[in-house]
Amino acid sequence: MKKDKVLLTGGTGFIGSHTAVELIQAGYEVEILDNLYNSKITALDNIEKITGVRPKFYEVDIRDGDALAKVFAEGNFDTVIHFAGLKAVAESVEKPLTYYEVNIGGTINLLECMQEFGVHKIIFSSSATVYGEPDSPLCVENLPVGRNLANPYGRTKYFIEEILRDVAISDPEFKVTILRYFNPIGAHASGLLGEDPNDKPNNLMPIVMKVAAGEIPELSIFGNDYDTPDGTCIRDYIHVVDLAKGHVAAVEKIGDVEQVQVYNLGTGRGLSVMEIVKAFSKASGMALPHKIVGRRAGDLAALCADPSHAEEMLGWKTELTIDDAMRDTLNYLEKQGVKIK
Ligand code: NAD
Ligand code: WQD
Repeated sequence: MKKDKVLLTGGTGFIGSHTAVELIQAGYEVEILDNLYNSKITALDNIEKITGVRPKFYEVDIRDGDALAKVFAEGNFDTVIHFAGLKAVAESVEKPLTYYEVNIGGTINLLECMQEFGVHKIIFSSSATVYGEPDSPLCVENLPVGRNLANPYGRTKYFIEEILRDVAISDPEFKVTILRYFNPIGAHASGLLGEDPNDKPNNLMPIVMKVAAGEIPELSIFGNDYDTPDGTCIRDYIHVVDLAKGHVAAVEKIGDVEQVQVYNLGTGRGLSVMEIVKAFSKASGMALPHKIVGRRAGDLAALCADPSHAEEMLGWKTELTIDDAMRDTLNYLEKQGVKIK
């Protein structure tokens, strides 16, 4: 049977580029739309080096409804994976309207185009952040979402989930898969793709990478007085290639499952910030400089996925370890010409 033609919005970004590789390698036709706000066009060269296929690329902003419509008029897509958006939590507090405009306004434009051009399947990049402050640190998909969300970024993800549910109610043909990612890290084993934000990094691993490269003197660990075994916060760090494979499984299944599906994509195992520091130090042979500073506002002590629904329904589970993620991160840095200090 012919495989779906898939449009990846935000497909030159960190998770999108790895997903493009896995989809192409699984036999899918992939096209990419991105405005290159937080990614580089060289991602396309690297996708081509890995797979032998250069996806068709549209340099388009999802806020531009007319430009989006032209893409859909040309594309004849079966499925859309919607990665495009802004994701810097602190920035979303400073510029809430920009986050609502890009993430929510952009998604509405995209959904309008899908309706106009008869594209009925969408997979959306949601986030563990929609669980807010869950009663249990182990998140299952049917926990309440949208309560006590700490920032506008998180609210955009929650609101988009709700918008998608409303569109599904209005159109029985419409199929929605919501993927709630936990903490993606790592890089492609080739060293050609990885996390390379255009702006200053916000997440733990990109900051660790800058410390290793000597661009930031030391990692500030936000608090060691949490109720966790070593006092530092616990998160579910998932290798980006495992995450990308989760998207392939979601594309394969979206036509056959109930209209709206929600899956956690995580490992089910939590690691503390200190364990991340140790894993990086072990892999690199350098003692990563770090110091303990005060807690960061809005951080939870522990958050971890229960990924059993994805395993049951998608036949997907993570395969790579934290040591794999650290090895691949270091390989990526080396290929970028970064010398570990
Ligand atoms: P990323 O920034 O690397 O990728 C997002 C891509 O969207 C970038 O290439 C960027 O240029 C593009 N983009 C931004 N604004 C755009 C616009 N107006 N029009 C077109 N393209 C635009 O981020 P990522 O880590 O790959 O995240 C992908 C998705 O997954 C995002 O929606 C993010 O919110 C979500 N997510 C990420 C994480 C994480 O920790 N990385 C966790 C949970 C959810
Ligand atoms: C991880 C851990 C920090 C930086 C965020 C979003 C979430 C999702 C993933 C998009 C925490 C600690 C960090 C530093 C530190 N993104 N840390 N020093 O906060 O779990 O989740 O990214 O959807 O929505 O909220 O990820 O990478 O910022 O932090 O000690 O300099 O590292 O306290 O425990 P977080 P993170």
